[in-house]
Amino acid sequence: MLSAEITKVVSETITAKTAHSPHVATLEEYKKLHASSIDDPESFFRRGYLNASVNCVDRWALKHPEQESDEPGQHVHISYGDMLKQVCMLANVLKSFGVKKGDIVAIYLPMVPEAVYAMLACARIGAIHSFVFAGFSAEALRDRISDANCALVITADQGCRGGKRTPLKKITDKAVAECPSVKNVLVLHRPYCPPEIMYAEDPLFILYMSGSTGKPKGVLHTTAGHLLGAALTADVGWITGHSYTVWGPLVIGSTTLVFESILTYPNPGRYWQMVETHKLTQFYTAPTAIRALRRPGDKHITSHDLNSLRVLGSVGEPINPEAWHWYNDVIGNGKCPIVDTYWQTEAGSIMISPLPGAVLTKPGSATVPFFGFEPKLLDPTTDKELEAKKGESIEGVLYMKTPWPSMARTIYGDHKRYLETYMALYPGYYITGDGAEKDSDDYIWIKGRVDDVINVSGHRLSTAEIESALIAHPRVAESTVIGMSDDVTGQAIFAYVVLKDDSAHAPVAYIHQDDASHADLVKKLSHDLVIQVRSHIGPFASPKRVVFVPYLPKTRSGKIMRRILRKIANGEVGASSDEEIGKLGDLSTLADPSIVATLIRKVHNL
Ligand code: PRX
Repeated sequence: MLSAEITKVVSETITAKTAHSPHVATLEEYKKLHASSIDDPESFFRRGYLNASVNCVDRWALKHPEQESDEPGQHVHISYGDMLKQVCMLANVLKSFGVKKGDIVAIYLPMVPEAVYAMLACARIGAIHSFVFAGFSAEALRDRISDANCALVITADQGCRGGKRTPLKKITDKAVAECPSVKNVLVLHRPYCPPEIMYAEDPLFILYMSGSTGKPKGVLHTTAGHLLGAALTADVGWITGHSYTVWGPLVIGSTTLVFESILTYPNPGRYWQMVETHKLTQFYTAPTAIRALRRPGDKHITSHDLNSLRVLGSVGEPINPEAWHWYNDVIGNGKCPIVDTYWQTEAGSIMISPLPGAVLTKPGSATVPFFGFEPKLLDPTTDKELEAKKGESIEGVLYMKTPWPSMARTIYGDHKRYLETYMALYPGYYITGDGAEKDSDDYIWIKGRVDDVINVSGHRLSTAEIESALIAHPRVAESTVIGMSDDVTGQAIFAYVVLKDDSAHAPVAYIHQDDASHADLVKKLSHDLVIQVRSHIGPFASPKRVVFVPYLPKTRSGKIMRRILRKIANGEVGASSDEEIGKLGDLSTLADPSIVATLIRKVHNL
């Protein structure tokens, strides 16, 4: 769907515009710098000894002790001076609990200043932090703590988002009860804490992400590489999560805003009110948020002064041209460059993105590679590198040829899995897992994942992790989860579920017979399964639709044909006529082709 929209606007090139003088002013200058980052990376990116917390806090505390970092709502302004004290206090507390260089500390906190202190305090003493998103359940937290053998967890009593309270401490207690490695909770002290000297390649943090086999992957990032990646890109103004809320803005001594609530609370003008109150200059969000904010109408925007904005960023999924234009015209008032940044947790910093002021943008394209990145497209059937003829575009699987400073160095505790996942498929190249097109201007258009990963509101979810949560329900025999397109979240989760053929649960038979008198039973079971996924993974992983089917379409060798399930769920096949079924392509390898008509009937309530 997206690629059709993209093709419509491919010829439209938007002039780079910025009210401030850019660091790289022209496309020629960018090309020259980019070429030197690929040809001679050793001199382009130098290495040495450092401490991330000194680079991000002490430097600025000495230079401008009063400069502020912001936290909205209650408007807590934190100077670099104050931050240094807080970081040192917490670092000393960690030390007093025996945490030392190389140990791993789990941080399970909402978006509060303490989350930033905690990350910096770990960095200060050379401990590795593993930040677990506060939307995760006790089970998900437990798995992440045990995988990394954490001895200490930092959490809060509760999180507060959009008026809802989450009992983080209770969730932590539940998780920790099954984690024998955890010995302590934290207390705050005052004195200065001397920073540990770290080698450039010493680990800075691990960040867990869904793995396609179900077991979470702890992606490990290093000190100098991550800081360098974040710093380089942050000075043109992007901020997200680790790289762009903490490390990037702080390493260059700028002000960052930590936001605890949700974008629509108490009304959909919340972001714009913050832009006005704090005179924000750079605003970075995901297309899913842009689409959600566009829905309630422009009245929530026009009442706010957005003149302070200079750069608007987008990240997490391809941005559809409608959302792009709305962001550009209504939020940016046609004056702010739209910076669509393509990257991944493993990359540590932006991989493909326009440099505002130097690179012209095309709505829907992340444009050109950032310094140190050399993207290549490979043909998925022949594994050959694709070469475009002049004036033609090419489409394939996106790989990176050259290693870059901020790239993840391993998957914690499983280096073999790291090599197999990213490096083995095509030796000498790093696979991103995304399909992409390079147009005749060498601009890159990301087409979405080519593996079994679903991207819901910019959250990367593995089908295997959701399927394991579903199958843990006593009545579920088997399930396949796929991504269906969704106007707001980009993709939503669609679960096909096969129930156990268990005589103790006779109503299952009725479910398969579509007996209307059992609609309530179907509803209740679907609800139970949604709750099941919520409690195993978190609310953001909830299936939007659950459809019960008698069995799944499998090949004779037992492989589930996801392609069929994907097409039916996305409405590409709307009826069970031969002509419609023909749209599913070759079905000759299916063990029992009659399942296709049943699936169509079930999904479309025919
Ligand atoms: O599929 C790509 C998509 O998000 C994936 C990375 O997800 P994650 O590691 O959770 O990191 C998200 C924040 C960096 C990618 O493999 N993606 C990310 N940014 C874009 C994108 N797809 C298209 N355009 C983007 N700008």
